This record gives sequence, C-alpha cells and structure tokens, in this order.
Amino acid sequence: MTDTVPMIDSELSEQERLEYWAGEATRVTWNAPFTEVLDWSDAPFAKWFVGGRLNAGYNCVDRHVEAGHGDRVAFHFVGEPGDTRSISYRELQQEVGRAANALTTLGVVAGDRIAIYLPMIPEAVVAMLACARIGAPHTVVFGGFSADALAARIADRDAKVVVTADGGFRRGRPSALKPAVDDAADRCPGVEHVLVVRRTGEPIEWHEGRDLWWHDVVGTASPVHAPEAFDSEHPLFIMYTSGTTGAPKGILHTTGGYLVQVASSFETVFDHRPGDVYWCTADVGWITGHSYIVYGPLAAGATQVLYEGTPDAPHRGRWWEIIAQYGVTQFYTAPTAIRTTMKWGDDIPAAYDLTSIRVLGSVGEPINPEAHRWYRDTIGGGTAPIVDTWWQTETGAQMIAPLPGMVDAKPGAATAALPGIAIDVVDDSGASVPNGHDGYLVVREPWPAMLRTIWGDDARYVETYWSRWPGVYFAGDGARRDEDGHIWLLGRVDDVMNVSGHRLSTAEVESALVSHAAVAEAAVVAASDPTSGQAIVAFVILREDADAANPGIVAELRAHVGREIGAIAKPREVFVVPELPKTRSGKIMRRLLRDLAEQRETGDATTLADTAVMAVITAAVAGAPDAKEA
Ligand code: PRX
Repeated sequence: MTDTVPMIDSELSEQERLEYWAGEATRVTWNAPFTEVLDWSDAPFAKWFVGGRLNAGYNCVDRHVEAGHGDRVAFHFVGEPGDTRSISYRELQQEVGRAANALTTLGVVAGDRIAIYLPMIPEAVVAMLACARIGAPHTVVFGGFSADALAARIADRDAKVVVTADGGFRRGRPSALKPAVDDAADRCPGVEHVLVVRRTGEPIEWHEGRDLWWHDVVGTASPVHAPEAFDSEHPLFIMYTSGTTGAPKGILHTTGGYLVQVASSFETVFDHRPGDVYWCTADVGWITGHSYIVYGPLAAGATQVLYEGTPDAPHRGRWWEIIAQYGVTQFYTAPTAIRTTMKWGDDIPAAYDLTSIRVLGSVGEPINPEAHRWYRDTIGGGTAPIVDTWWQTETGAQMIAPLPGMVDAKPGAATAALPGIAIDVVDDSGASVPNGHDGYLVVREPWPAMLRTIWGDDARYVETYWSRWPGVYFAGDGARRDEDGHIWLLGRVDDVMNVSGHRLSTAEVESALVSHAAVAEAAVVAASDPTSGQAIVAFVILREDADAANPGIVAELRAHVGREIGAIAKPREVFVVPELPKTRSGKIMRRLLRDLAEQRETGDATTLADTAVMAVITAAVAGAPDAKEA
C-alpha cells in the first residue's frame, strides 16, 4: 500500500502549486481579496496573498457563530484539580471581545506587542485571540521558562503589556507564575501593565499602578467588539526558539499565509470532520500550541479538549480517562510522552474505553518504531493511523506527514511532503540524493506559513536559513530518502538539542553555565536518552578559586541553569573536568564528549591539540559519582 503515497508536490509546476494554495485560501474569510498568491521578488522575504485583508480572531471565532454554530463547544477545559468548563463558540466570542476591549482601554493599539505567560487555561487562548483581533502581535512564553528568560523575551520585543496568572496547577500543587513576571517587569521599563488572571488564589505581591486583575478589567468590559481587517502580511505573533547561538531568536509569523496553511493542514492531516473532538497535549507556549490548538483548529471550527496538567496527575491514567470521558477522536502528542506512558504499562490505558480514537498524531522528534507500534496498538486499538508530522517553529505549519487513509504509515517514517510543499533531501553540494541515501532536509520553494524573518535581524534570517544553498531553505535536520522515496527524519545536524520535544541549543546552556561564578568553561552535548529522546550532559571546568571539593557544586550548577533558562534546560549530568578536548584552533570536539556521555569508546582523537587530554577527562568522568543529582 505504501506505493500509493502521494508525492504530489514533486509533480506540481510552480503555477499548479500557487493555484493549489489559492484554492486552500478559500478556507479563510477575507475582508478584501488578495490580488497575487505569492510575491517572491524580494526572496527570501516572502509575501503571501498580497493585498488580501482579514482578521485572524474573526476567522477563528465570530464567523462560526455567524454561520449558526454559536452553541458548538470550542473547548472542553479540564483543570488539573478536576475543575471543568465547556466553552461554546458564542462564549468564546464574548470573552475575546471583552479582552480586546480591555486591551484597547489599556492603550494597546495595532502593532503594539503583548507578552503572554500563562498556564494552560482558557484565558491563554482568549488573550492570544484578543491580540490577533486588535492587531497587536503576541509573544507567548512557555510557563516553564525562568524570570531571566522571560525578561529577555519581553525586552527583545519591547512588550507593553504582560498577561499572566497568579499561577497554575502542576502535579496537585499550585505553581506560581507571578513572581517571575514581577522580576522580569522590574527590569523592563517598557512594561506598562501586568494583567493577572486569578487561577490558584495563592497570595501574590501587587504592584499598584502596574498590576491589574483580569477579572476586574476584562470581566467588566463590553463583550461586543468589531474586528478590524489587517493586511495579509500584518505580524500575528513572534515565537522564540533556540538557534545555534546563546540568544534565542524571535521567529516572526504573519497573518494570511499562516492562517491558510494551519487551517488547511489541520483539516487534512487529522481528517477532521463535524462532530469530532480533537485534543493536542502541547502547551500554548510552543509553536504546536499556536498552530494546532489555537489557530488551525479554531479556524476550522473544531471542538477541542484543553487540559492544564500532566499525564500523571492525580493518576497515571489521567489522559486516557479524559479521552474516554469526552470521546476524543484525534489525539496529538509527542514521542517523549508516548514513551513515558508506555513505560507505565499497558494495563493503565486498558482500563479506559479508547474506541473513539480515529487518528493519532505525533510531533516534535523522531518516533521510534517501538513507540509507534505501542501508540497504534494500545491507544489506537491497532487500527488508528499515526500521522507523524514533521515541521518546525519556523515552518509554522506541518510540512511532512502521511495523510490518514492514504498511506499505511511505516513506523518511524514521516513519509511525504504535504500537497503544495516542495521538500527535498540534498547532499553537501545541494544536489538531490537518490532513493536509499541520507542527506540534509530542505524546502525548495516558499510556503504560506513560513517565517518571514527573525525579529529585528533580517541578516541572521538570511544567513541561518537561506545561505547554505542559495534559494533553498535549510531546516537543520538530517534525513533519509528510502528505497520507496519516503522521508525519514534523522535528527538535527547542528548544535540544537531536542529534549522531550523541547528545543534548546548547546550554546544557550553553556552560556548559562559560564554565568555562574565558579565556572571557567563549559561544553554541553546531547546524549541519547530512552525517554526524553536526548538529554543534556555538561562538562565544566571550574575557576581556580572555586571550591572544587564542594560536594554540592553539581546540584548548584543544575539549579543555576534552571534559574537562567528554566527547569527544562537543567542538565541530566554535570561532569567537573580539568580540561576540554579542543582542536588546535580552539574548537571544542563535541563528538568526543558525546562518546563519553553515551559511555562509548571515544572516537578518533588525532586532531586534538593535546591527544593526552581525553585520558584525563575520561578519568575525571569515571570518578564523578555525583554528576547526576540525587
Ligand atoms: O529536528 C526536528 C524536530 O523538531 C525540530 C523543530 O523543533 P521546534 O521548532 O521546537 O518545533 C517542534 C514542533 C513542530 C525539527 O527541526 N522534529 C519536529 N517534528 C519531528 C521532528 N523530528 C522528527 N520527526 C518529527 N515528526
């Protein structure tokens, strides 16, 4: 059956590709029609659906109410403590209208930037849609990021308003968010207001004049708000992601092209039909939450589950219980989560009725065949197709995925480009590799949801993505084209790590480590990990005046990285070593450190400046029982 994979795009001419996207654009309601599908004259700076005007918030909410679907549930919200709330499209329209009016009252106008730092509660979606409605691009910062990371993002964006909460619930306990915002806002004078949702009811510090309760300001505003139409290229949001340097980059997405492609891919990849209940477990703080909780599904008028908590709170069957309770038909999660729940045992999902599941999705990292089979057999009843979707913060929308029903997915292969997407696998010279060969994953032609630039740094945009092979987008991933022409993702080929589906750069963690007073030098590598895909392993050289005998140094450095970036960036292991392996030009040979981290025999070390150094480091690593925090 695999020979029926639609390699549609390889046969599409440029004109057919543009016609295809013009057709897909009819999924969206335009206030003014576009006059040109794509303007690529200033490549690699794209303009899609040129001249078209629309409002993303209207498309995601109001038009469904106008079409008579006001009573349809937009979200079944499930709070971690067990509180639930079902929100219809009409109620969502009113909430978003109130929030848009409230932001306007606070002086926010089109083009102003808003930062959002919230748990997975309905207000996160409402705040995003309110921003879209008034043309104020949002930056959602994942709640797991620290005050430092939040401050860096607020400052880079020069955000005027921050929307946050007192906290959220995490594994049965309230987990505070407001202190990080207080800390960040103190350092960012551009922040005029902090809008605070009361979620946990825990006491918080209050900054008179700056802080405002969401229920006071939004709760009392009028629910009626007239959306304004914006240019197709009006900025919709900026999402920060890790690159190969220490500074995260702000990926800019605009309105028309993004909305068309997320709506189109959501409907086709998940085979969405009326009456379905879709659930994506991602956090709205990541691109998956933006594209496949907020903009794609809502543009399609879908009914979703929105869950605040983790899969194991208050018990390890929580996800499956929610699927059974709401009759979830499409479930979209990450391989890390699949491997974790798989480890807990088959008897847990077996206790729930999962027969409503029709399509299972996977995203964020390669899915290993064992996890793929378990997912299909144990969660999908042996019949649900698995759509393994490859894409990135930068691509904005899914790019490679088997369409359910069209292919019998091979466990572990993302298979083929979606219609209208020109994927290729190339060698060092940029030439396509034949079937059966490995190479680099590239996109040969622009696509509607593509990033438009890196916020404030056009040169870095061109350099990072478009300069390795001129005119071709380099994704940073290795890939194999198998004998059938299907694509297998092989992981990153740069210094970007993928830890539990979270993207981090080695440089980012290294700069956090060297900002600690005791650290002179640090090198970070990603070692493979059976659950999280990759795990962070750090090698540090301490300063001469640091107390190398301090038994708590490893725990202290891990905690320091947690404060600098967030808990997700804490290294699994920290080894204190006397030297780092370097070439004569001073470049750290990470390959050798990776061998050590994975407890393999170290590879060819002949290009080292000092070939004896590996023996010294190996001895230090072998004698470091406390590298992992207890
Ligand atoms: O290496 C690829 C991996 O995740 C990277 C993008 O990370 P991020 O921008 O955080 O977006 C994650 C959610 C879309 C890619 O460069 N990746 C993503 N999906 C897959 C994947 N690797 C293999 N298979 C996938 N399905």
